[in-house]
Amino acid sequence: MQDSFKREINYLRISVTDLCNLRCRYCMPEDGVEKFSHDRILSVEEIAEITSVCAELGVNKVRLTGGEPLVRKGIFDICREISKIPGIKELCITTNGLLLKQTASELKAAGVDRLNISIDTLKNQKYKELTRCKFSERPVDEIFEGIEAAKTAGFQNIKLNAVLIGGTNDDEINDFVALTEMEDYQIRFIELMPIGEAMNWEKSCFIPNETVLSKDSRLTKIGESGVATLYQVPGYKGCIGLISPVNHHFCSHCNRLRLTADGKLKACLHSRFETPVRGLHGEELKAAIAKQIAEKPENYDLGYDNPSSTLRNMNQIGG
Ligand code: GTP
Ligand code: 5AD
Ligand code: SF4
Repeated sequence: MQDSFKREINYLRISVTDLCNLRCRYCMPEDGVEKFSHDRILSVEEIAEITSVCAELGVNKVRLTGGEPLVRKGIFDICREISKIPGIKELCITTNGLLLKQTASELKAAGVDRLNISIDTLKNQKYKELTRCKFSERPVDEIFEGIEAAKTAGFQNIKLNAVLIGGTNDDEINDFVALTEMEDYQIRFIELMPIGEAMNWEKSCFIPNETVLSKDSRLTKIGESGVATLYQVPGYKGCIGLISPVNHHFCSHCNRLRLTADGKLKACLHSRFETPVRGLHGEELKAAIAKQIAEKPENYDLGYDNPSSTLRNMNQIGG
C-alpha cells in the first residue's frame, strides 16, 4: 500500500523482544531498562496475525529485530509462522551474532532468508567496553564463528553493521575495509543517531560517513542497496555500505513500518507517534494498519540539534 507521499510501504520491522544480552553504551543504560512484563509482549500468534494483515496490505519483506531477537523465547516459531505467510518474500534478522553459532541452522530451517550482524569493533577488549559484554572474553571471535556457522547453514549475502562513533571506532575504518578484500561481506557503516541513550552524547561522537571515504581513497562508488550507498576497493571481493541517517536523510524513499514488542505500530522511527494494534482483529486491525501507513509522516529532520523525538530507547524499537 502507498502512503500519502506515494511511497510503497512493503517492509515491516518487528521488534520481537526488548531484552538483550548486551548493554551497548549508545543503546541501553548500564542497569538495563525497565523490561516489558511477559504479558505485555506480543505472543507468536499475535505477531503472525498482525504480519498476515500487513502482508494483505502489501508488505513483502519482514525483518526481526530486538533488543536481541535471538534471546526471544519462541524465536524459531515466530520465524516458521512468518515465513509461511502468503506474500512474505523475504524474512531477515538483525542480530548481534553472539548466539548465532548455536542457532544458525535452526533459523535457516525455520525459513529465515538473510542475516545482518551488528559488530561495531573488531577488537575483543573494545567490544567488551562498548557493549558492556560480561559473558565472553572473546566476543568478536565468537561473532565470526557464528558467521561461519551461518554460512555453513546456507546463509548468503550476510551484512555486517558498524555504527560509526567518533573517538571509538573511527580508527578501525581501514581494518573493516581490509576485511572485504578476501571475504564477500557487505560491511555497512551507520552514522550514530541521536536517539535514546545516544541523545546526550558529545557532538564529537557524531561523525559523518564521509570520514570512511576520506580514510581510503580507493573506495569507489558501485551503486545503492536499500538505504546504503555501496563502495568497493576495486578487485576486493566484498564492499562497504554507507548508511547516513543523520547527514543524508533517506525519508523520501522510506518503505518501512515498525511493530514494537508491546504491540504498537510506528510509521517513523523518530516520531513519538505510535498506534496500539494489540487486541484488534480482522477488518478492524486492517483499518488501523492502513491508517498508520496513510498517516506516515513525510520526513524527520534528524540532526544533532534536532534529536529523535521517540520516547523509546533503541532496544525497544530495533533500529
Ligand atoms: P537490508 O534489508 O539488508 O537492507 O537491511 P536494513 O538496512 O533495512 O536493516 P538493518 O537492521 O541492518 O538496519 C541498518 C541500520 O539502519 C540500523 O542500524 C538502523 O538503526 C538504521 N535504520 C534502519 N531503518 C531506519 C530508518 O527508517 N530510519 C533511520 N534513520 N535509520 C534506520
Ligand atoms: N544510531 C545508529 N544505529 C544504532 N543502532 C542502535 N542504536 C543506534 C544509534 N543510536 C543500531 C545497532 C544495530 C541496529 C539494529 O541499530 O547497532 O546495528
Ligand atoms: Fe543490544 Fe542492539 Fe542495543 Fe546493543 S544496540 S544493547 S546489541 S539491542
